Amino acid sequence: MKSKDWLNRQKKDYFVKKAKKQGYLSRAAYKLIEIDNKFNFLKKSERIFEFGASPGGWSQVALELNPNIKITALDVLELKINHPNVKFYKEDFLKFNYDKIEKKFDLILSDIAPNTTGHQSTDHLRISSMLFDIIDLLDKIIIKKGVFITKIWKGSEEKNLIKILKKKFKEVSYFKPKSSRKDSVEIFVIAKNFIE
Ligand SMILES: C[S@@+](CC[C@H](N)C(=O)[O-])C[C@H]1O[C@@H](n2cnc3c(N)ncnc32)[C@H](O)[C@@H]1O
Repeated sequence: MKSKDWLNRQKKDYFVKKAKKQGYLSRAAYKLIEIDNKFNFLKKSERIFEFGASPGGWSQVALELNPNIKITALDVLELKINHPNVKFYKEDFLKFNYDKIEKKFDLILSDIAPNTTGHQSTDHLRISSMLFDIIDLLDKIIIKKGVFITKIWKGSEEKNLIKILKKKFKEVSYFKPKSSRKDSVEIFVIAKNFIE
């Protein structure tokens, strides 16, 4: 999408306006609210690891719904919140040293997304490649029975991603929040009960 069209869409968007009004850093915040309304995991979680956390809408929602939650967040861009429960690393997730993690996490969130080219299958392959890498890293960061919630973009690699997740988790479901644009290929996967 051209940047002028993107700006025009943002100006009119209901959730962009709502986020501004309610003080959320991203319209994506509403997606996590909806996912949590359905799957109810934030109140039960103690420690989150978040891939692609900036500007920080998801972190805000997690802290709002569970003020005791501890978040380790990663992004190449700056996180726009500063909170004692959030440890932020401004780093590419592929370069982060996961060996320095002392205690594993019960909830892994990923809203990570590459810069888009506008070419749907190229973009799909890019995000899928990131997700294959993240799934490979899970063993190092998630506890047994942990939950992994990730955005995916529908396309040719979707089946492979789900197939791998089904081997690693006992329950895998899909969810498309109402706040996710209807014309967007994004969908969220909720994988529960990590098998060690
Ligand atoms: C859709 S945004 C996340 C929005 C966030 N959930 C929120 O509510 O504020 C996707 C993020 O993925 C990040 N990202 C893309 N490639 C990355 C990489 N290699 N390592 C870490 N973060 C990355 C982008 O910088 C961007 O901030």
